[in-house]
Amino acid sequence: MATSAVDYALPLLLLSKFPIPPLFAVLLVGVSLLWFAPGGIAWAFSRAAWVIPGPPGVVSALSGTAAHRALAKLSRSLEASKLMAFSVGFSRFIVSSHPETAKEILGSSAFADRPIKESAYELLFHRAMGFAPYGEYWRNLRRISATHLFSPRRISAFGEQRKEIGVHMVGEIQSLMGRDGEVEIKQVLHFGSLNNVMMSVFGKRFDFGEEQGLELEGLVKEGYELLGVFNWSDHLPLLGLLDLQGVRRRCRKLVTRVNLFVGRIIEEHRRRRSTAAAASNVGDFVDVLLDLEENEKEKLSDVDMVAVLWSADGATFAWYQEMIFRGTDTVAILLEWIMARMVLHPDIQTKAQAEIDDVVGESRPVSDADIPNLPYLQSIVKESLRMHPPGPLLSWARLAIHDVNIGDYFVPAGTTAMVNMWAITHDECVWSEPNEFKPERFMEEEMSIMGSDLRLAPFGSGRRVCPGKAMGLATVHLWLAQLLQSFRWMPLGTGVDLSECLKMSLEMKNPLVCRAVPRS
Ligand code: HEM
Repeated sequence: MATSAVDYALPLLLLSKFPIPPLFAVLLVGVSLLWFAPGGIAWAFSRAAWVIPGPPGVVSALSGTAAHRALAKLSRSLEASKLMAFSVGFSRFIVSSHPETAKEILGSSAFADRPIKESAYELLFHRAMGFAPYGEYWRNLRRISATHLFSPRRISAFGEQRKEIGVHMVGEIQSLMGRDGEVEIKQVLHFGSLNNVMMSVFGKRFDFGEEQGLELEGLVKEGYELLGVFNWSDHLPLLGLLDLQGVRRRCRKLVTRVNLFVGRIIEEHRRRRSTAAAASNVGDFVDVLLDLEENEKEKLSDVDMVAVLWSADGATFAWYQEMIFRGTDTVAILLEWIMARMVLHPDIQTKAQAEIDDVVGESRPVSDADIPNLPYLQSIVKESLRMHPPGPLLSWARLAIHDVNIGDYFVPAGTTAMVNMWAITHDECVWSEPNEFKPERFMEEEMSIMGSDLRLAPFGSGRRVCPGKAMGLATVHLWLAQLLQSFRWMPLGTGVDLSECLKMSLEMKNPLVCRAVPRS
């Protein structure tokens, strides 16, 4: 439930339970009036009070594991799909569940900032791209990564590595099937995806049965949990002093461990580069940044830029960490959903395999170059992103830098804005049969999912659109093609449970366990 009856009725309950003097009674009535303002208490004092529709009280839905569904239901029930106001503690929120207002919010320069959570701040993510305030510093981060990590040239250069990791995953699935007669695909995808990011960023692959791999996995798991946790201290300043959920303490411990881990890898790179033999062995992102440090320091006039690259304040580490947290699980989680759909819809799976066999044949392994010729496979990915967007609320929200109008409504500076992409992709006014898994719909209508059409924008849109979207898609397409080319995916007796659980991304609540039978 989004906002329980208790949320609404708390002040009345207090009034009825305790006999109080008249002055307090007047005060409490005043507070109740504020509480019952549309959008709740955080909106009651703003210039936009009583304007944008929204539930009274304090919405607790964001702390739940189905926030996207709860907010969608609330917006629908209040006929506030275009814009709904609500309060979380003393923070003012708006949420759009409509392509028009979503486009306005994401495209507006007013919403180019992100609200910074305590966990992100403690993990130094305010110095990394995803949370850095809009401005010169953030622009530099985007520019460096657009050129050196996410450019088409770099993405295609990493094609062989992606393919090798895919082949390795196929081997692992085969041996798990041999051992257990079933496979829990989530772990395989998670480690594959983590190694893919680690190779691109650090040029290093890990064995997750060994000490360093286990350590890395521990760091990633803890960081992912901390970033995903709903921290009441972010919205109730007094609680912040107490750190009741222990988020600050855990973050500080983690930063020390990550700095040690990443520091070791950077040292290895420096040592390797100092030997003559290493001169030709450049390629990963650490090397790119070391090159920038060595060759371009003179040209980098911006003090912040140098700080980003190699200052001791941990900004560089934060950058690496962010790539790992962002790049790993989005890809693995999306692929798990897709495989669940393949198991559930054998007809669709057969059609995709027939397409692969037609284009690739049966004698050679599928590769990046085949993907443009596999439109049905691409449609499966699009349809999965529609039904199971990894960021149903577009992961991380936006913050209004200044006052702005959205639709017919005035939104004051300091308001946090969210887009409920899940609500849009499940709205029958926007999509026909929105609850049916039908990749064919994308064969009939050409549609970009990169952010220009807000009916389906799983990577966000506007200035802060996901910079890793092309890399993420290249990985998902190739690995899906490899998994479908190699195996026939079949259910176990228990079937497939599509229950969801929203953490930092929208995960399957119960991991997919199925059978993968070799096709040849
Ligand atoms: C299926 C894969 C992925 C999905 C669905 C996804 C989704 C998203 C979404 C919804 C946002 C917020 C966009 C907005 O506010 O408009 C975002 C931002 C971001 N993503 Fe991704 N992402 C994926 C893969 C990746 C990968 C592979 C990387 C890097 C290795 C990455 C790095 C980032 C970063 C750094 C940001 C913050 C950008 C900024 O604030 O300037 N993502 N992503």
